[in-house]
Amino acid sequence: MPVLFEPFRIKVVEPIRLTTRAERESLLQQAHYNVFRLRSADVLIDLLTDSGTAAMSDRQWAAMFHGDEAYAGSHSYYRFIETVGALTGMPYIFPVHQGRAAEHILFHLLGGPGKIIPSNTHFDTTRANIEQTGAEALDLPIAEALLPESQCPFKGNLDVAKLEELIEKVGADRIPVCLFTLTNNTLGGHPASLANIRAVKKVLSRYGIPLFLDACRIAENAYCIKLREPGYVNRTPWEIAQEIFSHADGCFMSAKKDGLANIGGFLAVRDVTLVERIQHLLILWEGFPTYGGLAGRDLEAIAQGLHEAFQEEYLHHRIHFVAHFAEQLRRTGVPIIEPPGGHAVFIDAARFAPHIAPEHFPGQAIVCALYVHAGVRAVEVGSLMMGKRGANGDHIAPPLELVRLAIPRRVYTQSHMDYVVEALAELYATRDSLRGFRLLSEAPFLRHFTAVLEPL
Ligand code: F0G
Repeated sequence: MPVLFEPFRIKVVEPIRLTTRAERESLLQQAHYNVFRLRSADVLIDLLTDSGTAAMSDRQWAAMFHGDEAYAGSHSYYRFIETVGALTGMPYIFPVHQGRAAEHILFHLLGGPGKIIPSNTHFDTTRANIEQTGAEALDLPIAEALLPESQCPFKGNLDVAKLEELIEKVGADRIPVCLFTLTNNTLGGHPASLANIRAVKKVLSRYGIPLFLDACRIAENAYCIKLREPGYVNRTPWEIAQEIFSHADGCFMSAKKDGLANIGGFLAVRDVTLVERIQHLLILWEGFPTYGGLAGRDLEAIAQGLHEAFQEEYLHHRIHFVAHFAEQLRRTGVPIIEPPGGHAVFIDAARFAPHIAPEHFPGQAIVCALYVHAGVRAVEVGSLMMGKRGANGDHIAPPLELVRLAIPRRVYTQSHMDYVVEALAELYATRDSLRGFRLLSEAPFLRHFTAVLEPL
């Protein structure tokens, strides 16, 4: 295999402050064992998220200088619309300040009590924005998606039979939209195949239900299709993405991921009857429709970033960098979710710390121990983020207990990742000493961001 090297040179650097184990113990205690409460200056390698954390290119910084900050009709808006329009084929595009702003607007219009919104898997902010309206956010992943060791190449697929069963059971009137999350962040960052997207669209069309995409990692999904789905090896990732969008009636995207930008996103639709209502809410909550809560310079950064995110050299490195990280972890015995997807490697916390019950947050135990041991910040995607309370306050665990090691785009080098592998291997060797946590306070939704915990 050819040597995998970063397809960029480093022009600007940001120093990393080293901390001691004793310091980190005290900092974590002060943060109430919630790594969202840490200062980033106290983190050595930050794998909390791949969202908004990309290193921008020299071309993006240069484009920002051309930002037109006019309140209405800026040329940056038109450059943005041109790029997003060429990629998605959508006629009506609205910039927003980030993905959840698009979710807020869309589900305010389409959600409501009694409605059900199925998906391969909803992201946590999507679920919260749907549930806020009184609607139900329903995950219909294929069965393989819940088998950590299965090597199924498209675990992001939606279970078509279950979708059809749902529509037959509750009736199409209760399903205002079906949402495809590409890639399926919360179950492992797995891609969906074009065959599955087409099959889902076919069923939905029969019942007149629109298909929307949560497209924040669409470039990574498209590249996985190129590598894994027969018939796509000679197509560019951009062309594959265009084909995916051609099956959708609308989409939203957090440009903080595959937009290679630090902020921003958009909502886009084909249906003209939605346009006026979206515009009204956009003006109320985000800003005038030609800037949607963003500066002109942000629109420029996204327009340029989208082109860069679809470059083959970039995507080749991105997907193989993540796969190589996964392979090194596999060799140490650390149980991971197979196969690795686009933006992260997920540790199977249920197998890493089987002695910790779901209600005591095995993933959070690993996250906290990893920070103390090595200063690496990961994020729990399990009972803390996705767990629920039953009618009598008992804990309802999600299907998987995971720890996500998200890889910011173009930020860390191979040796940074080697350091993380070594740290995790050491932690795994002493895994029997990991302790669980008790939740002392929690918000009514998206509780993981602000939760206060205490070690058992
Ligand atoms: N959809 C998916 C699949 C996401 O992963 C995210 C954000 C959003 C929507 C919301 O976008 O943050 O711009 O409002 N995911 C981040 C993460 C936060 O860490 O995975 P946003």
